[in-house]
Amino acid sequence: MAVLVTGGAGYIGSHTVAALLERNESVVVIDNLQQGHQEAVLGGVFYKGDIRDTDLLDKVFAENDIDAVIHFAANSLVGESMQNPGKYYHNNVFGAICLLEKMKTSGVKKIIFSSTAATYGEPESVPVLESDPTNPTNTYGETKLAMEKMMKWFDVAHGVKFVALRYFNAAGAHENGQIGEDHSPETHLVPLILQVPLGQREHIAIYGEDYPTPDGTCIRDYLHVSDLADAHILALDMLREGGESNVYNLGSGKGFSVKEMIEVARKVTGHPIPAIVQARRSGDPAVLIASSDKIKQQLGWNPSRDSLEAIIQTAWNWHQKHPEGYGKQ
Ligand code: UFG
Repeated sequence: MAVLVTGGAGYIGSHTVAALLERNESVVVIDNLQQGHQEAVLGGVFYKGDIRDTDLLDKVFAENDIDAVIHFAANSLVGESMQNPGKYYHNNVFGAICLLEKMKTSGVKKIIFSSTAATYGEPESVPVLESDPTNPTNTYGETKLAMEKMMKWFDVAHGVKFVALRYFNAAGAHENGQIGEDHSPETHLVPLILQVPLGQREHIAIYGEDYPTPDGTCIRDYLHVSDLADAHILALDMLREGGESNVYNLGSGKGFSVKEMIEVARKVTGHPIPAIVQARRSGDPAVLIASSDKIKQQLGWNPSRDSLEAIIQTAWNWHQKHPEGYGKQ
C-alpha cells in the first residue's frame, strides 16, 4: 500500500516524504512544481501535475495501490490570497474537491490535511486551543478552514476520515542536509534573516515594533519541520488503526519575537545581521502560540528538536550548502 502525498515537493511536503521513506513506506507524490522542487523529493514515484487535473488523478490512483493521502498541495501566501482570492478558492478549495471526489470513488478513506493557525485569525487568548473560535482574517486561512469543513462532511457522507493539522511556524531543515526551505518569492522570517549572512541582502526588515509584546515585535511559535513531519506519521498510524477524524494544533508552545529570532540567528551564524524597523505588515497578529497538548496526549507526539538555536542551525547548514536554493548549487 502506498501513501499519496500531494504537494510533496514543497517545504513541509518534502520533509514529510523523507519521514515516510525513513520508515519504509511506499510513497507517491503529485506536485505541479509551481512552488515545489523535484530535487526535494528524495524517493518514491513522482508525477508532475495538478490535483485539479482529473485525468491525472485517475491515472495516479489506477497505477498505485493508495491507502491514504497526505494533502499539502495548496497556495499559502497570505498577502497574495488577499490580492487574488479567486486563485486561492480555485487551487485550494476546488483542488480539495477534486481530490476528495477521487478518494470517494476509489474507496480511499484516510486523509491527513495540512492546515494552518491562520484558521483562527486573531486569537482571543494564547496559547491557542483547537476548541477556540475560527475567524480567519485572510483568504488563505478561510480557504484552509473551508477545506477542513469539507472533509468533515465527506466523513459524514462517505466515511472518509481526516486529520487536520494546524501548523504554527515551521522552520529549519532536515538533519541530512539534503532538503530545506526554498520559496519563491521568499516571505518567511528565518530564510530571509539568513539571506543577510549569505550576502544576499543588506539587512532584515522588522515589520513593526509597536505591537503589545515585551519588545514590540510579533511573537510566533517556531517548530522544526521534521517534528511537524513526524506528526503526520502519527496521524496516519492513528487513522490506519481505525481512529476517528480530528483536528490538532502543531507548535512548540513557546513564543519568540522577531527581535529574539534575529538575535539567535546572529549567535548561530556569527554575523551581525543588521535589522531595520519598518511599518507593520498588514494582517499580522501580535502573538500566535499553540497549545499542542491535544496531539501530545492523544497521539503521543513528542517534538524532540525543541531548541530554537538548533532549529536555526539546521536551516543555516542547508542554506550554506544551497545558497541559491534547489537546482542552482
Ligand atoms: N517578519 C519580519 N520581517 C520579515 C519577514 C517576517 O519582521 O522580513 C515577521 C512577520 O511580520 C511575522 C514573523 O516575522 O511577525 C513571522 O513571519 P513569517 O512570514 O515567517 O510567518 P507568519 O507567522 O506570517 O506566517 C506563518 C505561515 C503562514 C500562515 C501564518 C499563520 O508561513 O502560511 O503563519 O498561520 F498563514
